Amino acid sequence: MFPQTRLRRLRYNATLRQMVSETSLSANDFVMPLFVIYGKNKKNPIPSMPGQFQFSVENLVTECKELSAIGVRSILLFGIPEHKDEHGYVACKHNGIVQTAIRAIKEELPEMYIIADVCNCEYTTHGHCGTIVDGDVDNDLTIATLSKQSVSLAEAGADMIAPSDMMDGRVEEIRKALDDAGFYKTPIMSYSAKYASGFYGPFRDAAGSAPQFGDRKTYQMNPANSNEALREIDQDILEGADIIMVKPALSYLDIIRRAKDEYNIPIAAYNVSGEYSMVKAAAANGWIDEQRVMTEILTSIKRAGADIIITYFAKDAVNILNASPTPGKS
Ligand code: PBG
Repeated sequence: MFPQTRLRRLRYNATLRQMVSETSLSANDFVMPLFVIYGKNKKNPIPSMPGQFQFSVENLVTECKELSAIGVRSILLFGIPEHKDEHGYVACKHNGIVQTAIRAIKEELPEMYIIADVCNCEYTTHGHCGTIVDGDVDNDLTIATLSKQSVSLAEAGADMIAPSDMMDGRVEEIRKALDDAGFYKTPIMSYSAKYASGFYGPFRDAAGSAPQFGDRKTYQMNPANSNEALREIDQDILEGADIIMVKPALSYLDIIRRAKDEYNIPIAAYNVSGEYSMVKAAAANGWIDEQRVMTEILTSIKRAGADIIITYFAKDAVNILNASPTPGKS
C-alpha cells in the first residue's frame, strides 16, 4: 500500500522498464501476407493499402528475398487468377497462380516458409467463398473443392495450409485429403474464429474478392459472439487443426485471450487489412505516430495471447526491431 508501494518506482529508468517488460516482439512472431497476380513484371500498388502490392511471380520472389534478408521467414500467400469460374476450380489447377508462385519461391528460397490460404472467394465469379446452390454457399460441395485446392497447394510445395472459408467440417476433410495424398507432415492453420467483418474491405480490393451479391454472414461469425468462437475452435481442434486463428485481431483481443486461456494450442491472430489501412491513413494525415501506434497494436495482440501475428506490418516492424531490439520501450 502507498506510500511503501509506489508502482512508478519501476518506471523511472529505461533499462529497468525493459527488464520488467512483460511482452516483447521478435521477427519470429510475424507472418507477412502477400498477393500474387498473373502477368509479368507487375508490382501494382494497392491504393487502399499503402505500402502493399500485387506482385507478379518474379517480383514476388524478389520481395521474398528482401523479407528473408531482414529475418521475415514466413509468408501467407493469396492469389489473383487471370480467369475465375463458378466453383473456384481454377484454384485447384497444377499451374494455378499460387501453385506457380510457390514453386518459384521454393526454387530460389527453399527456406522460406510458405503458408497457403485456402478459399474460393478470389477464384469464383460471384466472389463467395464456395459453390452457390439456391443463392447460398453449399457447405459440403465447397469443402470437397477446398480439399482439392489444399492437396494441389501441398503438391506445389506449400509448407502449411490455412483454410479461411468458415465452412463446417473443412478441417477434417482437408486433413483427410492431405493424409491420403501423403502430406501427413503438412500442418493446418485454421481460421477458426473468423468474423463477418467490415475490416476486410481493403483486402477485397487487393484480392478482387468482394461478394457480388449478399454478404458472408451465413458462414462468417457474428461480431457479437464470443462463446460461439470457442465452439468453432473446439470443433477445429477435434478435426485436427494444428494452429487456430482469430480474425480480425484488434476488435477481437478478448477472443484471443479466451482462446489462450482455454486451449493448449498455438494461436494465430490476423491483423487484417482494415486495421492496417486505418493506421496508414491516420499517419498520412499526421494524426498519429505510425511507428508508435503500429508497435502498440502488435504488442497488444501478443499480450492478448497470440503466438503468431499475421500482419501487413511485418516488414516495417522487423525493420524497426532490427534497428533497435526493443521498439517503443525506451
Ligand atoms: C478470404 C480471406 C479474406 C481475408 C483473408 N482471407 C477476406 C474475406 O473473408 O472476405 C481478409 C484479410 C484481410 O482483410 O487482411 N476468405
